[in-house]
Amino acid sequence: MDSILVTGNGPLSGQIPIAGAKNACLTLMPATLLSEDPLTLTNAPRLSDIKTMTQLLQSLGAEVSSLQDGQVLAMSSHDLTSHTADYDIVRKMRASNLVLGPMLARLGQAVVSLPGGCAIGARPMDLHVEGLEALGAEIELKDGYLHAKALGGLKGAVHEMRFASVGATENIVMAATLAKGTTVLKNAAREPEIVDLVNCLRKMGAQIAGEGTSTIEIQGVDRLHGATHQVVSDRIELGTYMLVPAICGGEVELLGGRKSLVESFASKLEEAGVSISETAKGLKVSRKNGPVTSVDVITEPFPGFPTDLQAQMMALMCTAQGVSVLEERIFENRFMHAPELVRMGAQIEVHGGTAKVTGVDQLKGAPVMATDLRASVSLILAGLAAEGETTVSRVYHLDRGYEHVVGKLEGVGAKIERIKSQ
Ligand code: EPU
Repeated sequence: MDSILVTGNGPLSGQIPIAGAKNACLTLMPATLLSEDPLTLTNAPRLSDIKTMTQLLQSLGAEVSSLQDGQVLAMSSHDLTSHTADYDIVRKMRASNLVLGPMLARLGQAVVSLPGGCAIGARPMDLHVEGLEALGAEIELKDGYLHAKALGGLKGAVHEMRFASVGATENIVMAATLAKGTTVLKNAAREPEIVDLVNCLRKMGAQIAGEGTSTIEIQGVDRLHGATHQVVSDRIELGTYMLVPAICGGEVELLGGRKSLVESFASKLEEAGVSISETAKGLKVSRKNGPVTSVDVITEPFPGFPTDLQAQMMALMCTAQGVSVLEERIFENRFMHAPELVRMGAQIEVHGGTAKVTGVDQLKGAPVMATDLRASVSLILAGLAAEGETTVSRVYHLDRGYEHVVGKLEGVGAKIERIKSQ
């Protein structure tokens, strides 16, 4: 298994390009299953999760070609040959469950492995199931697989979700595009990835209103057609790299970044003393006068502070002046980076879903282990600010969600290299 060696070397400056959003692309790709016509995505990120979704779609009979060095995905689901998402693929990546709604809508049946828990929490599928059942699907759990049927077609309905789940919203909205009649989804998630999905579905001929609010209304249509769609910028990659000048000092311009994608996160950074301004090409972030000040954070569904930036924000708070309290409200086990940061000299106490971080003057390099995607990048951020060498092992987590991380950080002057396993 490869590792990454980071050597802290002071303030960093320059430009970092922001890729298309992993979590948008992972829901846009299954949308191809809704139509017989081709769907082309541009600005796709080059990530192992995208390769996993490619394999899953191909296992269902879809054609997926990766063009222009992976930035364009040309897909066609003209001839689907299977309606089963196999455990071997689903267990690798939970987002595989996003084929459930589209397959059910297009084929009237779908068999999708239950993903099981993962490092950050139990992550059940009950909200997906309840929403699809409200549209008339019959779903039962057999041998670890969800067997879903709607042989007479799905029917529009009014459904209120118990929690604004991102994935359940995506599955239900995709399924409802081909249902008979109108679906009103209440307490829907409002994340930018959902807005991006709806923009793409609309280009495919879907009739949808209210995306980005908590009530989404979908008027079912008989069929969807082909489209070309540009994947929205990755707000989590953006937020992660905004933390580079915040934690190391310096000034970095994030090309393609928009403040509207990271409003709540950006205002926390500003509160901590980081400067952020919009430029013609993106966002410029700088910290020039001493360490940041501690701020408290509570993770919440969008537009609240994103759980996917909590680990990275914790790395910053380890170097801040004062005491910071971070409360994780989305996932029940998302502080595994804390003991690794402690190995680097951080002062962190975790009690349940709350972490109390007392800033220290200087983190120290250490060998640390990545436990999940966002945890691994938080350790790299800490390594950039630490004195000495930090080796982050189990880098395959990072490859799931950050393209060319070494090259992007080298581009702003970081001392970072990937060590290939023997
Ligand atoms: N939940 C349920 N039942 C369900 C669905 C979700 O209890 O049927 C719970 C989950 O267990 C979790 C909470 O609701 O505690 C939020 O889950 P949600 O469904 O909103 O998340 P998701 O769709 O599984 C997406 C992202 C995650 C991101 C979350 C929250 C993708 C592919 N994944 O997951 O991204 O953390 O939304 O914003 O879009 C990451 O990129 O590192 C990542 C984990």
